[in-house]
Amino acid sequence: MKTAFDICVLPGDGIGVEVIDATIPVLEKVQKGFSLKFDFYPAGAKHYQQTGEALPEATFEAAKRADAILFGAMGWPEIRYPDGTEIAPQLDLRFRLELYAGVRPARAIPGVPLPLADPRARDIDLVVVRENTEGLFASRGKGTLIDDREARDTMVITRRASERVHDFAFRLAKKRRKQVTCVDKANVFLSMAFFRKVFDEVAKRHPGVEAYHHYIDATALDLVRKPWQFDVLVTENMFGDIISDQTAALVGGMGMAPSGDIGDAHGLFQPCHGSAPDIAGQGKANPIAAILSGAMMLEWLGERSGNAAMGDAARRIERAVDAIFPAIKPYEFGGRDGTGAIRDAVLSNL
Ligand code: NAI
Ligand code: MG
Repeated sequence: MKTAFDICVLPGDGIGVEVIDATIPVLEKVQKGFSLKFDFYPAGAKHYQQTGEALPEATFEAAKRADAILFGAMGWPEIRYPDGTEIAPQLDLRFRLELYAGVRPARAIPGVPLPLADPRARDIDLVVVRENTEGLFASRGKGTLIDDREARDTMVITRRASERVHDFAFRLAKKRRKQVTCVDKANVFLSMAFFRKVFDEVAKRHPGVEAYHHYIDATALDLVRKPWQFDVLVTENMFGDIISDQTAALVGGMGMAPSGDIGDAHGLFQPCHGSAPDIAGQGKANPIAAILSGAMMLEWLGERSGNAAMGDAARRIERAVDAIFPAIKPYEFGGRDGTGAIRDAVLSNL
């Protein structure tokens, strides 16, 4: 059984660096029955500004070689490619390493203030599975601008990518409340009708799981009206990008939302948030999303390697995080606890 793991760490830009700094000591503290070796590599908007390269090939190769990738955040609004778009190595990594399932859990932690007044908001426990390799994002870097008159981006939905992400969602639901909702716009777009058709086919292979459909606009409504009813939601890349920020807000904000970008051969774990230029460098970032992403990484590595100690370590981290609330009040909720205080509170509960 494998016990030693190489972790490629890409802190990136802004608060990405700060939340990764807070996550490493937590991961170091739970190593029992396994060990992690952390190797840091450069990439991101600031690196692009200094060197002309957003994702150096040596960094990509290290990410590819590693057992898992731990990622902070990348991008900076003022640093852009000549075509006006931003530096986003996380998207290159998703496409190039085929990290097809963007897994974004949103769980209401007891003691964390929630924006919804309805007491049932305490029961929110859902996962958005975002298709990560095509959809509207297939057009990234390939859009067309005609004479400064008209711009076009094209949505791409393939059977291969839809099948694998739907299948992932059903397998995930089997470990949870056994419900998957396909979120689409099948009433209007052929591409979305096809996404739903493949979903229905995959659903037949998973008879123990309830399969539902919901249009994206109605989903936006119900994520505010009754989000506690959802278990796993599987959706197109752009829709998943948008609703996963909404589901992060439901459980306290971006600093509470972890994620994993998972493929068959590689896994990248990162908080859902970006580099947060508005609070970067002030020690105000909430590192919980990054710390919980680290726990997701352990869970995933443990499942792949059959090392049960890693799943135990992941659950220890989750319990330690749960235990810091409501005493800890991050700046994100209007409190006065910064990155270091939150890290220390988690460490003291481990
Ligand atoms: P953002 O997620 O960085 O920030 C959105 C809002 O949430 C801000 O008000 C920020 O202060 C707050 N926030 C985010 N994380 C927080 C945390 N851990 N603790 C407390 N508050 C937190 O999104 P924004 O501002 O749209 O993007 C900033 C930059 O990050 C852009 O360059 C964008 O392209 C990039 N980005 C990168 C992502 C990635 O690396 N995966 C994801 C999203 C954005
Ligand atoms: Mg986003």
